[in-house]
Amino acid sequence: MIKIAPSILSADYVNLQRDIEKVDKGGAELLHIDIMDGAFVPALSYGPGWVKAIKPITNLTLDVHMMVQNPERYVDDFADAGADIIGVHTEATPHIHRALQMIKNRNVKAEVVINPGTPVAAITPVLYMVDQVLVMTVNPGFGGQKFLPETVKKIAELDQIKKEQGLNFDIEIDGGVNETTVVGAYKAGATVAVAGSYIFDADDPVSRINALKDATK
Ligand code: DX5
Ligand code: ZN
Repeated sequence: MIKIAPSILSADYVNLQRDIEKVDKGGAELLHIDIMDGAFVPALSYGPGWVKAIKPITNLTLDVHMMVQNPERYVDDFADAGADIIGVHTEATPHIHRALQMIKNRNVKAEVVINPGTPVAAITPVLYMVDQVLVMTVNPGFGGQKFLPETVKKIAELDQIKKEQGLNFDIEIDGGVNETTVVGAYKAGATVAVAGSYIFDADDPVSRINALKDATK
């Protein structure tokens, strides 16, 4: 069964605590927090203050996805705020190894992220040091986009490398996840599924968490 990380990007910000409690009680394992800087991606979302505010109201693993140019600048701020996992895009810095080292030095779980147009080969040198790899299944920047099926072979490739090299990082997918698209990704080796609109646009978010779990039994 896949672990579920609801993305608060699609939650009701005015009732954020209510929405977080709903998915927390409803069986999610992580809470996905999308940080957008208006440069790496066009949109702006929120910063470390939100992570700090959310930290005391939930026991969910806070999974911070930094869609930020030169993320090294803010790693310490998100670690201070209480992030449990910090994800940095390899496309966003010439120094991905250093960025991951910075995260690990703060005893936070380190995640490397690849866009749909980036091959697995771009991150093989750093796989030994990460706790999680995020394979973007849409181009980052917005919720509610369509899952790109061609990304699934990269999940299989990463799963293969895990086995060959005896590594045990989680493989997370993000973008366009629903009870249909999650199946192929899970079979290819995905262990964590982010879902935003699929969960929070529903009348009953918990039924959607259950549907994702049921589809990956
Ligand atoms: C997109 C973000 C996602 C977003 C996913 O750039 O990284 O986490 O919330 O939204 P859905 O699940 O609606 O595609
Ligand atoms: Zn995300």
